[in-house]
Amino acid sequence: MKSVTIIGLGYVGLPLACLCAEKGHKVHGFDVDKGKVDSVNRNTSPIEDEYLANKLKYLNNKIHATTEPNECIPNSDVVIVCVPTPVDRNNSPDLTAVMNAASTVSKFIKHGTLLVIESTIYPGTIEEVVLPILQKQKIDARRNDVLVAHCPERIDPGNRKWTIDILPRVVGGVTKESSKAAAEFYRSILSAEVLELSSVKAAEATKIMENTFRDVNIAFVNEMAQSFDKAGIDILEVIKGASTKPFAFMPHYPGAGVGGHCIAQDPYYMIERGRQLGFNHEFLMLARKINNNMPHYTVELLENELKKIKKSVKGAKVGVLGLAYKGNVDDIRESPAFEVINILNTKGADVFIFDPHVKAGSNVKDLDELLNKSDYLVLVTDHREFKSVDLEKLKKHKILVVIDGRNCLDKEKIKSMGIAYHGIGRF
Ligand SMILES: NC(=O)c1ccc[n+]([C@@H]2O[C@H](COP(=O)([O-])OP(=O)(O)OC[C@H]3O[C@@H](n4cnc5c(N)ncnc54)[C@H](O)[C@@H]3O)[C@@H](O)[C@H]2O)c1
Repeated sequence: MKSVTIIGLGYVGLPLACLCAEKGHKVHGFDVDKGKVDSVNRNTSPIEDEYLANKLKYLNNKIHATTEPNECIPNSDVVIVCVPTPVDRNNSPDLTAVMNAASTVSKFIKHGTLLVIESTIYPGTIEEVVLPILQKQKIDARRNDVLVAHCPERIDPGNRKWTIDILPRVVGGVTKESSKAAAEFYRSILSAEVLELSSVKAAEATKIMENTFRDVNIAFVNEMAQSFDKAGIDILEVIKGASTKPFAFMPHYPGAGVGGHCIAQDPYYMIERGRQLGFNHEFLMLARKINNNMPHYTVELLENELKKIKKSVKGAKVGVLGLAYKGNVDDIRESPAFEVINILNTKGADVFIFDPHVKAGSNVKDLDELLNKSDYLVLVTDHREFKSVDLEKLKKHKILVVIDGRNCLDKEKIKSMGIAYHGIGRF
């Protein structure tokens, strides 16, 4: 049994803390957010997540959460950093939380401890940003005073199939010893492969590559969807067709925009790193541009449908379904829904918003009230509550147009009721 401190009890840190506790390690959670700390100590999840809620109840105070680093870091054999890595207003990496966490750790960590950064960072961050912070406290990670490694997190919140315990991982250490120590620790908690890479940089780059791969593929399919729409071709049918090829095709799906703390931001980490090194990531920037434009395209689809019935967005009563960046989660970070709402407001629409997972951001109390107040719908999030809605209700509430930003509704049924339907590359 090891004593483990997880720094940052969010979407990444909390499932990891639960897993470590389940595997018999003594677990402390350190977070600067007292609300989260109190919630964990009450065995309740600060995040809307059934899996986490059940785990915390089952673990029943096996995780000790605190806002005091001296209560946990000095007594730990392993310290894992899971703090946010957002971008700033200019889409430049904001490493403040990582730097603050490294600074806190450096003041309390004992020699010989394994220090893992799980936060997503650009290649070079540990060696150029984290190690100098440790060095200020005379900790030389290259001499293994502390064993520093990177193990990028792959968790997909809300994904019930690929839970944290069965996701393969990669690790890379500052030294061979730190890489080995990290790999051994992750093998003690995972029922999946742990691959040791030759450097910490390679591990940092792995995560950036995975998420950038998603972003560029989604941008590709978003572009195809827009062009197929003009050609009168349903993109979902084409993706289904292409997916019958048993090799070299991987389906990605178009939508109203890319959000979340990872895919919408991580490419900027690499774009900036490339810039620092004198390399221009044109492909990555184009993908970001295409995906960032999807909320505009989604509103354009509504405008086109309104034109057909001689109406305009100005003064239109538009119901927006969903605020979360993806289905069945309460995470609104970088959600394209905000851009959709912003554009609709700027164009003078009367906007009603409902998200069953984000009640605080909704301006109506439930779906019925939204349907009652709206003439037109724009679905942005494929929550199960929206996918399973009784479509007869749309007719009952005299909805005239549905823009399906996630291509998740029964278009034939909607059209059969005399309601105009348009999805992203689907009509
Ligand atoms: N959310 C995901 O799906 C996901 C998946 C894989 C990787 N990641 C990466 O993992 C990292 C964490 O993401 P997240 O979604 O869990 O973020 P989050 O915002 O849900 O959680 C981060 C937590 O860290 C705390 N924190 C911030 N600064 C701190 C400090 N100096 N000391 C202690 N605690 C501090 C915050 O209060 C918060 O509770 C990011 O780098 C992200 O890119 C996220």
